[in-house]
Parts: sequence; structure tokens; C-alpha cells
Amino acid sequence: MTISSEEELAKLREISRIVANTLRDMQAAMRPGMTTGELDAIGAAMLKAAGAESAPQLTYDFPGATCISVNEEIAHGIPGDRVIAEGDLVNIDVSAAKDGFFGDTGASSVVGQPNAMQERLLRDGKRALWTGIGQVKTGAKLNAIGEAIEKFAKKNRYTLVRNLASHGVGRALHEEPEQIPTWHEPGDRRVLHEGLVFTIEPFLSMGANWAAEMGDGWTLVSEPRAPTVQFEHTMVVTKRGAMVLTQPG
Ligand code: CO
Ligand code: CO
Repeated sequence: MTISSEEELAKLREISRIVANTLRDMQAAMRPGMTTGELDAIGAAMLKAAGAESAPQLTYDFPGATCISVNEEIAHGIPGDRVIAEGDLVNIDVSAAKDGFFGDTGASSVVGQPNAMQERLLRDGKRALWTGIGQVKTGAKLNAIGEAIEKFAKKNRYTLVRNLASHGVGRALHEEPEQIPTWHEPGDRRVLHEGLVFTIEPFLSMGANWAAEMGDGWTLVSEPRAPTVQFEHTMVVTKRGAMVLTQPG
């Protein structure tokens, strides 16, 4: 959507804060021995308490309130019986709706103490996201985002998953502009206009360049298998840059 009033912005801020707080508290609650279903229940309760509805449930009938993807899984993991262990790389993606407005955020983290490789990958996954966010400004080319992220990834010898794009959000979980690449697409001529609401969510990997569906209709795994992280924010385009909405508070 494109924001046209303070009221719309206030509502987007509200749902964005709710998903950011839910993600933060779910990450803080992660313990070895817990199932992803138990972790999801914490998120579901938080969304409910805040008067929000899970967006994947609402939109796609997803069998969970949040997407929780462990190790080889990189996105759209179904919460359930899988037990998370010390050292697991876990991605939590929280998107929800309230009063007809949608926010979307995600982050990877390690259960317990990350090893040096994981610490570097997590740090650089955040840097990749913020490298993209740094390109956002009214009138900027949309493909400047992917160009900058790909340059960062190459320089630091990472790969990017190239079939999971970022997207417009706001009045729906996924809306125009669809397929915002977090890799370089030289032929993409789209321009970022004032007030546009969208996500940036690069998947930075130590070797994967594709996400493959596992056969359960949802879960996506890295192809080839390699440690992969995703960090995602919802933002609004302004003349002074990106206004990042999915911040806890
Ligand atoms: Co998301
Ligand atoms: Co998203």
C-alpha cells in the first residue's frame, strides 16, 4: 500500500510494533528441548493478547501462527513436534494483521551459544538487510536494494537465495509491488515512491542459492543445503530514507 494519512501510518506502526515485540519475545523464550509448536504457542498468545491475527493463518490457512524454520529449513517452517537443540539455527517469521493493516518481520538466531561461524553469519545477515534498507528513498530505483545486497554478499563470499523475494505489504500480507529482488536485477525499472510500504528480507547463505519445497506444501529448505539466515523489516519510503516500522517498543 501507499500511505496517504497519519491515521494509516499510526495503524501500520501499531501492527508493526506488535509483530516486532512478538518476534523479540519468542527469540528470548527459545530453549533447548522445546518444540517449535511450543514456541509458536508463545507467539500465538502474544498476537491474541494484542488483538492481532496471524497473517499466514488468515491469508493462506497456514497451520501455525508463525513460521519457524530450523537449520536446513529456511522459510515457511510449520511449527510442530520438532525439538530445538542447543546450536540450532532457527528462523522465526512473524506477520499479523490488526484493523485491516499488516506488518511482517523475521529474524534468525541460534539456540544457546552461537559458534564463530554462526555469529558471523548472523551479523552479516543483519548487515545485508541494513545495506538494502540504506538504499531506500523516495525516487530511488527499486533494484538499487538488490544491487547493494548482492555486492555486499559477494564481497563477503556469501550466496543469496534467489527465489524468495521481498514484497509490498500493508493492506494484505503480500501485495504490490510483488517480487522485490534482494539480488541484482539489472532490467528492473521500478522506482520507489513516497509512502510505499514494503519489506526487505534477504536470505544470506553460505552456499544456497535456491529454496526448495519439502513436500509438505509449506516448508522450504536450502538448495544446496547450507547455513542460511533471513532478517526482515517492514518499512515506509520517505524523502529522508526508509522509516523502519517493525521495531519493538
Ligand atoms: Co515475513
Ligand atoms: Co515478508
